[in-house]
Amino acid sequence: MNKKILIVNGPNLNLLGQREDNIYGKETLEHIKTACQNKSKLIDFDIDFFQSNNEGEIINKIHEVEKFYDGLIINPAAYTHSSIAILDSLRAISKPKIEVHLSNIYSREEYRKKSITSEGVNGLICGFGSNSYILAIEAISKLIYK
Ligand code: DQA
Repeated sequence: MNKKILIVNGPNLNLLGQREDNIYGKETLEHIKTACQNKSKLIDFDIDFFQSNNEGEIINKIHEVEKFYDGLIINPAAYTHSSIAILDSLRAISKPKIEVHLSNIYSREEYRKKSITSEGVNGLICGFGSNSYILAIEAISKLIYK
């Protein structure tokens, strides 16, 4: 049976393509979803792609990982820098987990340079635009088959 991974996207990522495109690029979240689906097919992975602007909904979705998925890729967006609740939910999951960001959060404002949520994941990929997600799919397959 194919391995199944969950890709979670946090607040305002539904506005990709129209939101600060000088930083986040012109691709919509729908484009990124299609690129992730295409990449996943090549390696026989099934993916579920989820976006929410609501912290509680994101946490409830993360809780599903232990039971229903083999791994998690998450772009917590602005919650990256503030949410101990999302960090705690990530720590509760034993499956491989990777944090991604479109932008290089370490080359931006001071308040973006600290990722609280990355303390709960195996690794972090940032700064490659939508390709951060594709690199994360490759990386998570290595973690799942380790
Ligand atoms: C982001 C970086 C965050 O700092 C920001 O709040 C986002 C997007 C990224 O993908 O580059 O919404 O997670």
